[in-house]
Amino acid sequence: MRQKMDNEKNDPSCKSSDLKISNISIQVVSVPGKLPGRRPPRKPIGKPRPRKQPKKRAPFWNVQNKIILFTAFLFILAVTAWTLLWLYISKTESKDAFYFVGMFRITNIEFLPEYRQKESREFLSMAKTVQQVVNLVYTTSAFSKFYKQSVVADVSSNNKGGLLVHFWIVFVMPHAKGHIFCEECVAAILKDSIQTSIINRTSVGSLQGLAVDMDSVVLNAGLRSDYSSAVGSDNGCSRYLYADHLTLRYPLEISATSGQLMCHFKLVAIVGYLIRLSIESIQLEADNCITDSLTVYDSLLPIRSAILYRICEPTRTLMSFVSTNNLMLVTLKSPYVRRLAGIRAYFEVIPEQKCESTILVKEINSFEGKISSPYYPSYYPPKCKCTWTFQTSLSTLGIALKFYNYSITKKSAKGCEHGWWEINEHMYCGSYMDHETIFRVPSPLVHIQLQCSSRLSDKPLLVEYGGYNISQPCPAGSFRCSSGLCVPQAQRCDGVNDCFDESDELFCVTVKPACNSSIFRQHGPLVCDGFRDCEDGQDEQNCTRSIPCTSRTFKCGNDICFRKQNAQCDGIVDCPDGSDEEGCGCSRSSSFLHRIVGGSDSQEGTWPWQVSLHFVGSAYCGASVISREWLLSAAHCFHGNRLSDPTPWTAHLGMYVQGNAKFVSPVRRIVVHEYYNSQTFDYDIALLQLSIAWPETLKQLIQPICIPPAGQKVRSGEKCWVTGWGRRHETDSKGSPVLQQAEVELIDQTVCVSTYGIITSRMLCAGVMSGKSDACKGDSGGPLSCRRKSDGKWILTGIVSWGHGCGRPNFPGVYTRVSNFVPWIHKYVPSLL
Ligand code: ARG
Repeated sequence: MRQKMDNEKNDPSCKSSDLKISNISIQVVSVPGKLPGRRPPRKPIGKPRPRKQPKKRAPFWNVQNKIILFTAFLFILAVTAWTLLWLYISKTESKDAFYFVGMFRITNIEFLPEYRQKESREFLSMAKTVQQVVNLVYTTSAFSKFYKQSVVADVSSNNKGGLLVHFWIVFVMPHAKGHIFCEECVAAILKDSIQTSIINRTSVGSLQGLAVDMDSVVLNAGLRSDYSSAVGSDNGCSRYLYADHLTLRYPLEISATSGQLMCHFKLVAIVGYLIRLSIESIQLEADNCITDSLTVYDSLLPIRSAILYRICEPTRTLMSFVSTNNLMLVTLKSPYVRRLAGIRAYFEVIPEQKCESTILVKEINSFEGKISSPYYPSYYPPKCKCTWTFQTSLSTLGIALKFYNYSITKKSAKGCEHGWWEINEHMYCGSYMDHETIFRVPSPLVHIQLQCSSRLSDKPLLVEYGGYNISQPCPAGSFRCSSGLCVPQAQRCDGVNDCFDESDELFCVTVKPACNSSIFRQHGPLVCDGFRDCEDGQDEQNCTRSIPCTSRTFKCGNDICFRKQNAQCDGIVDCPDGSDEEGCGCSRSSSFLHRIVGGSDSQEGTWPWQVSLHFVGSAYCGASVISREWLLSAAHCFHGNRLSDPTPWTAHLGMYVQGNAKFVSPVRRIVVHEYYNSQTFDYDIALLQLSIAWPETLKQLIQPICIPPAGQKVRSGEKCWVTGWGRRHETDSKGSPVLQQAEVELIDQTVCVSTYGIITSRMLCAGVMSGKSDACKGDSGGPLSCRRKSDGKWILTGIVSWGHGCGRPNFPGVYTRVSNFVPWIHKYVPSLL
């Protein structure tokens, strides 16, 4: 309408009488807000206004509308895309399944033989009852939204009575929410649902009407692959084996030369007995159980906390394991069989053994009998308990215990890893080692209790016992070592570690006897052994006759014997045929120019054996190259569940500035010394196998360092170098970007023992007493390199291990003494020989 009036207004043919009307009409249309979409007049009415040109109707596809439409279109598009994306994400997320595997004991239902048949009515109805109970527990819990199902896999008899039920529980939830799903929470829901009454004081409670033993409940996160093989179809390699006869050996043999091996053997014995599995040989790829493994479980399903033992590498030595119940599961995994894989093993039914005795000791200063860990010579099962009471015939006699490859020491604040010992009310921790030790209890009546550690099975223990004279523990003419052993006085200070802890070689004043002295004549075998025992060297003259070699000597190819520690691989040809220097292949770094805490930047290429080990992408430890595919480092770098897995580790070789390595390889395998003691840092050594051997073309930048000759003695005062990217001060928060080097001095073992006290013969100290030069956090596993004068070769004398702070005066760095581990290294790296 307004447009029309405007038109009329603008029409030049309009008469003056019409003007008033048109004015009125203008007033009418000018009422603000009456016409939508119109702006109010800017000027008050009545003021003369210039005549406007009549506006044309704006076309619908004007720019403004186009923008509005386009924006709306974009908005709709975004909303649709977002909805579709959300639907897609929520759909794909929901595919994440979480598997839990567990067991519990139902105490008020008796076992029926029919439960062995999975298709039987009895099994199906029992399984249904348990599944319903578990359904009820989880559908009324905080995880009800994610609970999918439970599956009963086995209903078996057991030594405690009632039924042992093994089951799986499956949850499905978005991946992003996976973190709220803790293993303990899922287990706690089940345990909390068991209503125990304090009145009858048993561990049995009611789980939705089922009488369940609270102490028997185990629930762990499980693997999808295990779930599929347990619940899914049988691949022909998994089976139940029932052992109903005592004295029979049931074979367990399986092998494959290609394809894959994934076997589950469920072993079940008659009620009241245990199972002993004896493994004669295993063929596997050695890779820290990443792909290949043989696992022995104390259950019928692969429950992690019920693992008795895991074997990750091939072996031919007989090993046996005992269950704590009448059942056992053995899983063998070798998913990519290239060569031969398999096991040769058998199992037996054995009775439960009591491990308690009272022993009367009669002899003095000799060992008259033996006690052992339960089921000796099998590995002893976790959670065992033994008690022994010794009574001597005289009040002046105490009890001496000789441990083979084991020692007990006062319990520290940390727990014990390999057995807790309570001896006359004092607590001790046990640990394995490579030599025997003697522990003496100066009392005629001794009560001993051994509690096995609660995790895995442990290596069998054999202990000899006997009486000893409390006032004179070692017989006359013998020396008492710190390891408790007694060695003939004459073997003190002879350069041989007879005590195994070097205590017979500490505090020695070495004066070479004159050759005509009586000592020289007494110790005839010192003659012609390649070692100048007397000052004038008479003992080494006229050496034409070959003498029988002893354990202390090295046998040359032509049958002449030389002292082991001085002959082999020392760069000097001792044997006439040179056999002592054969196969000692490691290069001599030529780029070292005489030019950490108190260290300085090294020069690029000076330490071509230095390696930086990265854990999940960050520098964590050091290591040394000893061959094309093997590195040597410290065991403590790999202590713990995550650290012992080789997958997150990478080795950076030929590196100077952190992060700029010439060669990086994943780690295929980590071999931690089996006697490594995380409490004392004893046996702090580990071998690492690279996934990819470093290429020959990099031999200018990467070179192996030499391993010292076995048992090589070091000279205190000798100058060596410690290198690494660790912290430069104790208080620093991060390591150095540039490889640091510091000169340190080898320190006398006696001095070091008096500083730290707990220095074993597997350790050596180096530093400067002022404290200025030292290794520090982050240098661990790295080399202590010493240059041999005779041939200029660099020797890996030590591995950075521990110390009190860093660079503190009078507290030198402690290193692993590599010369004590030569046979151990050669066992894994035979190519070094
Ligand atoms: N344990 C340390 C590490 O993990 C090395 C400590 C060496 N300490 C010393 N003061 N030398 O890196």
